[in-house]
Amino acid sequence: FGSLATKVERNPSFSSLNSDDLSYFKGVLGEKNVVQDEDRLETANIDWMHKYKGSSKLLLLPRNTEEVSKILEYCNSRRLAVVPQGGNTGLVGGSVPVFDEVIINAGSMNKIIAFDKVSGILVCEAGCILENLISYLDNQGFIMPLDLGAKGSCQIGGNVSTNAGGLRFVRYGSLHGNVLGLEAVLANGDVLDMLGTLRKDNTGYDLKHLFIGSEGSLGIVTKVSILTPPKLSSVNIAFLACEDYLSCQKLLSEAKRKLGEILSAFEFLDSHAMDLVLNHLEGVRNPLPSAVHNFYVLIETTGSDESYDKEKLEAFLLHSMESGLISDGVLAQDINQASSFWRIREGVPEALMRAGPVYKYDLSIPVEKMYSLVEDMRLRLGQSANVVGYGHLGDGNLHLNISAPRYDDTILAQIEPYVYEWTSKHRGSISAEHGLGLMKANEIFYSKSHETVQLMASIKKLLDPNGILNPYKVLPHSLCSYS
Ligand code: FAD
Ligand code: MLT
Ligand code: ZN
Repeated sequence: FGSLATKVERNPSFSSLNSDDLSYFKGVLGEKNVVQDEDRLETANIDWMHKYKGSSKLLLLPRNTEEVSKILEYCNSRRLAVVPQGGNTGLVGGSVPVFDEVIINAGSMNKIIAFDKVSGILVCEAGCILENLISYLDNQGFIMPLDLGAKGSCQIGGNVSTNAGGLRFVRYGSLHGNVLGLEAVLANGDVLDMLGTLRKDNTGYDLKHLFIGSEGSLGIVTKVSILTPPKLSSVNIAFLACEDYLSCQKLLSEAKRKLGEILSAFEFLDSHAMDLVLNHLEGVRNPLPSAVHNFYVLIETTGSDESYDKEKLEAFLLHSMESGLISDGVLAQDINQASSFWRIREGVPEALMRAGPVYKYDLSIPVEKMYSLVEDMRLRLGQSANVVGYGHLGDGNLHLNISAPRYDDTILAQIEPYVYEWTSKHRGSISAEHGLGLMKANEIFYSKSHETVQLMASIKKLLDPNGILNPYKVLPHSLCSYS
């Protein structure tokens, strides 16, 4: 388990659970929402990658904001540390306890509160599973501005708290733009009602943004309002092959210019990622089997005019083929083929997991430089590991994954801090969309200045003076000592 960066000590100012605490929680939540069952705790203590493991003895399942408020107020007064947990699909060790923190999961708060068909504004509780929101909206003729491979388990509260990016970011942008409001409960139990449903509202500081992407370190998100785009009738998806990275990059510039407003996804994977998917996931086949290709690009368009959109995409593909940017390609003929293309891209994290231990990095790097890091890392590690590159090329977001035979401090020492230094040197970000969690709390300075991090620590101290909310995560441990 773990990495060099995860070696932390339990904060001695935190209390340990006692029987009075359990009685209090049972009084507020009812017996069955105070979970001490070993199997359920085992699942809640361990992250999706099976890399980080806590030893919490308690999982709480509040049913409404008032219960969240009571629990937090109590934990704060008793100095019991807590970890907010959603679908537990996070990839940086942020969603599981490090030691014995109480796990609070909003999964029972899963109601849709309102949906306005005129504005497309959805208001719902934080525990709604993303896929359920996608299906609900589909019936209403709308879509979520956010989609990602973990949609079957992740919760909207978790998405907002990580400011998840995902597969539609290139078209609809960040949750900082799409989330119109939210309700959050602070460590002392105070409920902040910022559940606005207005697109424009410049009255004072827009505090909801503090909770978007702060990974449960400032409060528990209990409700969100989100702007959802209408579902458009024509969706096309092409699966393409490029022989070198420069072609992928040029294809992106061309796609932005030529497909313009209908471009809705631009994703890439290298041949190492493709091999993993083909070898480890059942029923997946290569849509371009006639030759081995170095890179694959998935382009989706979404628009309102079927013949115009198709014509536009076909002309773009023909031109890209003629100019040699793509060496092969196929356009999905039906919805099944379209989902089989998405399965390849969305299946990469699962295939990596099945292949064995993985060191995962989620980086923003200027597109021209992005793949050089993968190549440098391959040279550095030689035969000792499989270096895999894929991600949201359209957003300048590389997922650099290193699949190794075992978790090993020697391999890790060859990867870190090299990968962070490389990223910092190119003015990139060491967390594009997954957050810092436990994995990168001490690495924040590679992407943010000392003054900025100091201000973050002051905000944390103001909102959570006892440091009970998701301790050891996000901010460097040296700045988060509490007495
Ligand atoms: P969790 O994993 O449970 O928690 C994540 C963080 O949010 C933790 O710090 C936790 O404390 C906090 N948190 C959770 N709920 C709340 C709440 N209600 N209030 C306050 N804090 C809370 N991420 C992307 O950005 N883009 C992707 O394309 C993407 N694809 C993925 C594909 C797969 C297969 C997997 C496994 C993960 C993927 N992720 C992706 C990462 C992850 O799914 C997202 O970060 C997701 O948003 C996490 O949601 P969750 O409900 O599982 O949260
Ligand atoms: C993805 O884009 O597939 C996700 O962010 C998960 C990952 O990086 O593995
Ligand atoms: Zn991603």
